[in-house]
Amino acid sequence: MTIQEKIAALQQQVNDIKAQNAAELEALRIKYLAKKGEITQLYEEFRAIPKEEKAAIGAPLNQLKQLYESRFREMKDQLGAAVAAATPREDLTRTPDPLELGTRHPLSLVREEIIDIFSRIGFTVADGPEVEDDKHVFSLLNFAPEHPARDMQDTFFIEKTEGEQKPTDVLLRTHTSSVQTRVMLNQKPPIRVLCPGRVYRNEAISARAHCFFHQIEGLYIDKNVSFADLREVLLYFAKEMFGEDTKIRLRPSYFPFTEPSAEMDISCDICGGKGCSFCKGTGWVEILGCGMVDPNVLEACGIDSKVYTGYAFGLGVERITNLKYRVKDLRLFSENDVRFLRQFKSC
Ligand code: PHE
Repeated sequence: MTIQEKIAALQQQVNDIKAQNAAELEALRIKYLAKKGEITQLYEEFRAIPKEEKAAIGAPLNQLKQLYESRFREMKDQLGAAVAAATPREDLTRTPDPLELGTRHPLSLVREEIIDIFSRIGFTVADGPEVEDDKHVFSLLNFAPEHPARDMQDTFFIEKTEGEQKPTDVLLRTHTSSVQTRVMLNQKPPIRVLCPGRVYRNEAISARAHCFFHQIEGLYIDKNVSFADLREVLLYFAKEMFGEDTKIRLRPSYFPFTEPSAEMDISCDICGGKGCSFCKGTGWVEILGCGMVDPNVLEACGIDSKVYTGYAFGLGVERITNLKYRVKDLRLFSENDVRFLRQFKSC
């Protein structure tokens, strides 16, 4: 048979080829279009044809190939439609798979609860950087130069050298009082802010201490603010957070930026004041530090201490969360173990 006859014969056959399934279709593809297939072989033959005859044969040969290719596409589509028709449809009345919701981190839940309690009495939230400088974290807060309190708070200093100069005073904030200094420098009293955020201290990591934790500090500056106002607000907070029966007690303490200063205990929420391992048998647990803003701090931040007075307080969110949810090991808060996290309220 000449090549022209072969082309004509294959043209005739094209509509007779049929495939019942994918395997048959593939077998036919191999028979005609694969490397050793009949049409591909015609191209081999075509190469040997004298030049002057090529033009007359090339065009019908290409058409033949296209004809087969489109026939194969057609068969493939038909088979696909048949398969889809044979597959059972999705049952649209079926109850959907439950959507798995994430849960809120316990520290976020508690932070929001605390902010909510204080916002009901007029506090707003202020934000500030975690990478701070000595001025905002210590100097403006009445820490004398070389004051050992800088070590007391186990500061992480960031060794950033500029050229030949000594390391600069860049550090990770050890408390969010640094946000309070920023607010005092930028706003005029009355000031009533909460400063929530992460703080860093160079402590060995254990069940009871971590190198970072979360604080919420509060600051109120106005005319005639007294220690009695501070006590009332803290009592309100303790009752809202831990229940109406909660008692508070204030013990004298020392902070460079407040005078007088105090630490506040609440009656142990776990044993109800009878004494347990959490409160070490005392019936009281310490939850925050507080005091009247030292006039030196007000003056350093440009606030007239003869006209204005104020109070400040600072608490650790982890500590409140431990009490509220009975979490015994601080490390759980940062390990991201979903078995722990799933126990809290969903989003
Ligand atoms: N800044 C203190 C600390 O981190 C807490 C505090 C804030 C104490 C405000 C008194 C007043 O320990």
